[in-house]
Amino acid sequence: MNRNTLIKEYPRYNKHINDVFEAGQTHIFKWWNEISPPEKKHLLEQIASIDFPFVRKLFNDSIQQTTRVVKGDMVPPQIITIPKDIFECEIAQKARKIGENALQKGEIAVLTVAGGHGTRLGVNGPKGTLPIAPISSKTIFQLHAEKICATQQKYHTCIPWYIMTSETNDLVTKTFFQDNQFFGLDPSQVCFFTQGMFPAVDFQGKLLMDSKSNVVMSPNGHGGTIVALKGKGILEDMKRRGIKNIFYHQVDNVLIKIADPVFIGYHLRDKADVSLKVVKKCHPEEKVGVVVCVNKNLHLVEYSELSRDEMCAKNEDGTLKYNAGSIAVHIISIDFLEKIHQKGESLPYHAAVKKVSCINENGNMINPEKSNAIKFESFIFDVLKYVKKGVVMEVVREEEFSPVKNMEGENSPVTAKQDMVNLFGRWLRNAGISIPINSQNNVIGLIEISPHFALDEEELKNKIGKNLQFNGFLNL
Ligand code: UTP
Repeated sequence: MNRNTLIKEYPRYNKHINDVFEAGQTHIFKWWNEISPPEKKHLLEQIASIDFPFVRKLFNDSIQQTTRVVKGDMVPPQIITIPKDIFECEIAQKARKIGENALQKGEIAVLTVAGGHGTRLGVNGPKGTLPIAPISSKTIFQLHAEKICATQQKYHTCIPWYIMTSETNDLVTKTFFQDNQFFGLDPSQVCFFTQGMFPAVDFQGKLLMDSKSNVVMSPNGHGGTIVALKGKGILEDMKRRGIKNIFYHQVDNVLIKIADPVFIGYHLRDKADVSLKVVKKCHPEEKVGVVVCVNKNLHLVEYSELSRDEMCAKNEDGTLKYNAGSIAVHIISIDFLEKIHQKGESLPYHAAVKKVSCINENGNMINPEKSNAIKFESFIFDVLKYVKKGVVMEVVREEEFSPVKNMEGENSPVTAKQDMVNLFGRWLRNAGISIPINSQNNVIGLIEISPHFALDEEELKNKIGKNLQFNGFLNL
């Protein structure tokens, strides 16, 4: 396709058309004469949203050997561990009071990141719309909504809920909430915003297309939250509502303790910029990012960045040295976000080699059997490099972390449902009810406790009689 003809036809896109030519990406105009005027407009709009020199730079960086980004001696971070005695329980109770106070004052918002494509899970539609509750089959979004609702009632407060989507799932997510009357929440407290998109390239750095008029674009990673919060006016909206701190979590963790007052309390007590929840790793090779300290700053090292020696390093008592597995639950201070925006700080992009369906040079769709593309994403935890004060709080994995990532096997709907049943089983057992378990410690039977009935073990204890008999099925 001729550059001048294109510019003559669409002078408004002059700069962007030139960008395409200068970046050597002219193959995206290969079918220009076959596509309709609206499709041409769509393609030009996509082109206008792409920073071509930046894509080239990221591609060039990605083909160079990458090693750990942060240099320096790595040591385990200081962690608020799970209370072991009455003294530590009292400290946690004090933190809880601080957190509850902030909730009552309406200073906490919940931010759920739900912009991912959920490619490993592979179901149609946003992950949050997946039916998951063990008996009622409530969806993930409904469970989160009910937790927020119950927390509001408990603390006589309002908790604004911000949901980050991406262009690909925004409309269907919003429609899902509308069709379900926002699960009992006031629609004005639920706010959706979209994250940025970034093109995928092949191993030569060429943009991929999945139709003759569409460049393959993917959400720019959960780190895209930081830019979108500012760019989409969300920080301003939060400030207008009196929010001081954001409780951040990923949509797919079905055990999430939304707006946990103890966690909020520690964050506030220590005047932290960002706080993180961690769990002990299951085994040294577990594929989870580990929170460490480098040059006195918190840092998250991805499992792929740890050497074998570091992965298996032990403390004197035989426990793993780098054992603080991040579960991507954070509290982020609004003041901190304002500061990094003012300084114009940004997060780096990471390259990932993936399978991406696209059209070939004949315009035919191909679903590759092996990886054929590089996607670029930024990660929320890279914000740690700007953090002066961060709190790391350890929690019990079985109580707070069960993500739905895969269709089968580990971190799948089956394990998520079982983890919920097991959690409710433990709450009941601690309330004095006999609950049978099998050799894998799984409850024999089905239990579901609605967030409206009890948000935690304490609430449950106060609501049920000691003479409750579990006959293999309990839906409260
Ligand atoms: P994952 O990295 O597990 O991605 O995201 P995913 O989209 O859920 O699944 P895969 O990797 O494609 O199989 C963890 C969380 O971050 C959100 C996801 O929605 C999920 O809550 N996320 C991820 C975003 O909001 N935006 C992104 O660009 C990527």
